Amino acid sequence: MTITADCVLELRGLRRRFGSKIVHEGIDLQLRGQELLALFGGSGTGKSLILRSIIGLEEPDAGEILWHGRTISGLHERDWIDVRKKIAYVFQNGALFDSLTVYENLAYPLREHTKLKEPEIRARVAEMLTLVDMPGSENLLPGELSGGMQKRAGLARAMILGPEILLFDEPTAGLDPVNTTRFVQNILDLKRRGLTGIFVTHDIASALAVADRIAILHQGRIHCIETVESIRSSRDPVVRKFLFPEEST
Ligand SMILES: Nc1ncnc2c1ncn2[C@@H]1O[C@H](COP(=O)(O)OP(=O)(O)OP(=O)(O)O)[C@@H](O)[C@H]1O
Ligand SMILES: [Mg+2]
Repeated sequence: MTITADCVLELRGLRRRFGSKIVHEGIDLQLRGQELLALFGGSGTGKSLILRSIIGLEEPDAGEILWHGRTISGLHERDWIDVRKKIAYVFQNGALFDSLTVYENLAYPLREHTKLKEPEIRARVAEMLTLVDMPGSENLLPGELSGGMQKRAGLARAMILGPEILLFDEPTAGLDPVNTTRFVQNILDLKRRGLTGIFVTHDIASALAVADRIAILHQGRIHCIETVESIRSSRDPVVRKFLFPEEST
């Protein structure tokens, strides 16, 4: 496979099975710098498994994950800590600590991984909360936030160490249209700042609005990976089934 010069993350031939069930037959994917890739696929096809493998929460049976050409699959646990500062994972529900305020949730990675002093932490948290349209919500507890705010706070926490790549798992699932639009707006703002990322979604409208390219996971492989423009006009039945399901009803 040829590697494009600006490829920041590459998956090569990832295979994974659970017992007799083969989930990944061979996943090949290249993510370019400053691109947002939307990953589609049926339920249970192994989309979350791809994201979890990229940050070392799951280990593929075979294949390689390269970050700037360096193999990261198979690293020791302590080395994954460094990778996870640069490749951040936004959990579906925000995964905030319930007993900590929004401020403490966002400050946590800074306290763990940097030597920033309290005034700098305060400024960084305020900056991130503004970015996700939640200025002044430092003292709220996660239980006092709406689902949409929890997701945006999760996004802010994922961004706080200035990662190079963001991985989102169904960021708009369960959100009402207003919160979905807000989330999409946050992502577009981040994109203008040079965001690189992969987001797994079933939300076609949001994917078409923010993604540069769309990949479809089908039968254990990346069935296709195409720009939004070209995929809109695709005649491939698998593509049309995922992106334009109304056609087949
Ligand atoms: N730790 C595990 N043990 C056994 N099976 C697993 C494990 N993790 C994932 N699987 C299986 O792998 C398959 C892919 O799971 P994954 O969660 O990646 O699917 P998905 O594409 O994200 O689905 P959804 O759209 O429903 O979130 C599923 O069939 C799941 O049951
Ligand atoms: Mg999933």
